[in-house]
Amino acid sequence: YKRVTTKSLVDMKANGQKISMLTAYDYTMAKIVDGAGIDVILVGDSASNVMAGHETTLPITLDQMIYHASSVVRGIERCLVVVDLPFGSYQSDPKEALRSAIRIMKESGGHSIKLEGGKEIKESIKRILNAGIPVMGHLGLTPQSIYKFGTYTVRAKEEEEADKLLEDALLLERLGCFALVLEKVPAALAEKVAKSLSIPVIGIGAGGGVDGQVLVTHDMLGMTHEFNPRFLRRYNDLYTSMTTAFENYSADVKSGDFPNAEEQY
Ligand code: KIV
Ligand code: NA
Repeated sequence: YKRVTTKSLVDMKANGQKISMLTAYDYTMAKIVDGAGIDVILVGDSASNVMAGHETTLPITLDQMIYHASSVVRGIERCLVVVDLPFGSYQSDPKEALRSAIRIMKESGGHSIKLEGGKEIKESIKRILNAGIPVMGHLGLTPQSIYKFGTYTVRAKEEEEADKLLEDALLLERLGCFALVLEKVPAALAEKVAKSLSIPVIGIGAGGGVDGQVLVTHDMLGMTHEFNPRFLRRYNDLYTSMTTAFENYSADVKSGDFPNAEEQY
């Protein structure tokens, strides 16, 4: 195997090869994702929802992100690992942002960080990049700002917000980010952004005109049933197969069928 690097992702875009990215929050899942040949693992702050059951991504802490990320790093051989800076760990000032990014790099062994926003966090991005830490941007529907948006519907449908998004994307590239995520924006806008940049644009709910795709692994595996956005393609129905497995196990325990003679010492 050959390790995926921030540079190889930029090369993939230049060669017209699409980039596959999935989330993972633990060792076992990361090992499976890595072994399947996915290019990038995102230790997303969606762990706040998926792992901890919070309604938003806001409550997850830097310590918790480091725990998830260090577990993921122990499971991978090939993937590039990107770790989200959680809400509150970078917004107040650039020094704190750099401190948070350094903690992630030192304590988890992740390869890069991702943070949400454009020109508002320009100084923080500069500082982190100056320390040699690769940065992935994230624009469009940025879930850490959900209380500002008030809704999880598609962003940048109006010209003003679309113009700002393109400007922010150009800024992120100019600052030196190696890639950026575009979440839930019109496909035409996402394609325009991807064509305007030489760094890869990874979409989620951003159509097929971008350079790669990311999904939350638990969603694409069909482990969740309540979350049904249009962009989500389910590649399995683990909710049903896991439920059946648990029901069968319970029935076998209660009937005395499990364990049998071969399953004991
Ligand atoms: O936290 C996350 O899972 C994300 C992706 C949806 C891009 O940021
Ligand atoms: Na995230």
